[in-house]
Amino acid sequence: MELVFATNNRHKLEELQELLGSEIKLLSLGDIGCYEDIPETQPTLEGNARQKSFFVYEKYGYNCFADDTGLEIEALDGEPGVYSARYAGDARDSDANMKKVLEKLVKINSREARFRTVISLILNGEETQFEGIVEGAILTEKKGNSGFGYDPVFQPKGYTQSFAEMSLEQKNKISHRGRAVEKLVNFLKSGVKN
Ligand code: IMP
Repeated sequence: MELVFATNNRHKLEELQELLGSEIKLLSLGDIGCYEDIPETQPTLEGNARQKSFFVYEKYGYNCFADDTGLEIEALDGEPGVYSARYAGDARDSDANMKKVLEKLVKINSREARFRTVISLILNGEETQFEGIVEGAILTEKKGNSGFGYDPVFQPKGYTQSFAEMSLEQKNKISHRGRAVEKLVNFLKSGVKN
């Protein structure tokens, strides 16, 4: 069976292909000749993931899945959430995004936050969603150099390191994306959502 992962990130695709084994062949957007910007205009992670997966399914006719991720900070009513990539503006600048978060939390004691990933899978026109969450806290300053996005200011619950101080392997085991992907892989292998 062929399945499109609505991404152009080769690394993400290869990592997932490894987990899925040879029965399912993953295709990237490039593999199916999709070079256009896929709309992501919904106000929720669920809506955006669904918008992307249905776009590919309807326009290109492939079974497909898409993901969307956000950092949800409790004291900021779930901000930046669906706006995580562009929190400080259209430049999608991670340093500016982290600076904005740290400034907004300066006088706030509660620093609880979580990353949440939603995956929308479309098989023959029917959608199933999978959610992965990692709970944690926003640090008072950046720590570590690995990873991307908000990793230097996010410390998962039960750990003393930020995501940016962990190896990719360590992070994937506990991360929002890792957890959502694990559910997707189990479903694709067993046909049962758990
Ligand atoms: P996307 O939906 O995977 O493109 O993620 C949207 C935005 O959330 C990214 O641009 C990052 O700012 C942030 N983000 C997503 N995943 C992570 C992560 O694992 N660590 C840090 N930031 C992340």
